[in-house]
Amino acid sequence: MKKKAKKILITGAAGFIGSNVLDYLFSKHIDYEFIILDALTYAGNLKNFSDEMKDSSRFRFIYDDITNASIVDQLVSESDIVIHCAAETHVTRSIYDNVKFFETDVLGTQAVANAVYHHKGRVERFIHISTCEVYGQGLTKKMDENHPLNPHSPYAAAKAGADRLVYSYFVTYGIPAIILRPFNIYGPRQHLEKAIPRFITSAILNEPLTVHGTGRPERDYMYVDDLAKAIDLLIHAPLEKVKGEVFNVGSGKAISILKIAQLIADYMKIPKSQIHLVKDRPGQVSTFACDFSKFSKLLGWKPEVEFEDGLKRTIEWYKNNPDVWKQQTWLRSVPIIMEDGTIELH
Ligand SMILES: NC(=O)c1ccc[n+]([C@@H]2O[C@H](COP(=O)([O-])OP(=O)(O)OC[C@H]3O[C@@H](n4cnc5c(N)ncnc54)[C@H](O)[C@@H]3O)[C@@H](O)[C@H]2O)c1
Repeated sequence: MKKKAKKILITGAAGFIGSNVLDYLFSKHIDYEFIILDALTYAGNLKNFSDEMKDSSRFRFIYDDITNASIVDQLVSESDIVIHCAAETHVTRSIYDNVKFFETDVLGTQAVANAVYHHKGRVERFIHISTCEVYGQGLTKKMDENHPLNPHSPYAAAKAGADRLVYSYFVTYGIPAIILRPFNIYGPRQHLEKAIPRFITSAILNEPLTVHGTGRPERDYMYVDDLAKAIDLLIHAPLEKVKGEVFNVGSGKAISILKIAQLIADYMKIPKSQIHLVKDRPGQVSTFACDFSKFSKLLGWKPEVEFEDGLKRTIEWYKNNPDVWKQQTWLRSVPIIMEDGTIELH
């Protein structure tokens, strides 16, 4: 039987993950329609939508804020699927000033969850994009969904609040919520404030690649296309299998940030002496690797892109698209107050 065409609302799709997920779903499901709600903060970029997409009758862009309950309600009332990506997302920025993080990540999520509750008869599923940052410091080599939630930064705390808020709406009101906790994601169009694009563009601009602390703590990095495939599976999986569940997604492999800087230096043929170690920032965590066995057993998903391959694809994208990212170069670092009271750019 032919699948029913769906109308999908994606919040925050002018950003990194949302725009890549949109690209993937837009080209894979040619009869699906997409509504995008984005406030175009410093992290949103209209250049993240192709001209083909912007000209399509299947694409509608709404410039507004997720904390605006009435507009959110209206858009959710028209949607079969809601994918909630919009958030303030930069850990370091949350150390500098966290008000927006709690407003957008917690209260914004509340507005979206309320709208899903109001339109429970219409919305088939609500996919909330949480994060591995909610776990804090890894207590085990691989972290599964039962790992305690000990957020270390205000960003992580706001995301943990949103994550549990969505769960509570599932328990209390029976909304069709699914909570996805991606580990670190990288790929084309990521904002230059994040480590991998910062390293790549610093290499392109012939500037130092600055690594915080020793650069040795390891994290799990996954290419963004593997996340888009995971979300596509969640849209189409039998609802009773996924409703109210939390799923980790990641590569399952940990790599240090210093190693990543070295690989980028190798691939971009710049000397390793261009990598500079600077003071660490407060609240750093070593998240170790993702245990994605729950998602894998249930839906047969596994990450497909090897780190080296994804990194080369990402480097090519930044080399070929300076018109998209050049305007962000002045936003690469944020001033933060260190424990000794000094202010440093991180
Ligand atoms: N990038 C990662 O490594 C990663 C890992 C795990 C989870 N996540 C989560 O995935 C989601 C997307 O992350 P990203 O890296 O694409 O972020 P991003 O910062 O690149 O994009 C965020 C988008 O949200 C929009 N936005 C911000 N505040 C808004 C508001 N109040 N109303 C409407 N739109 C608003 C911005 O304009 C931007 O387009 C976030 O929820 C983030 O917490 C990211």
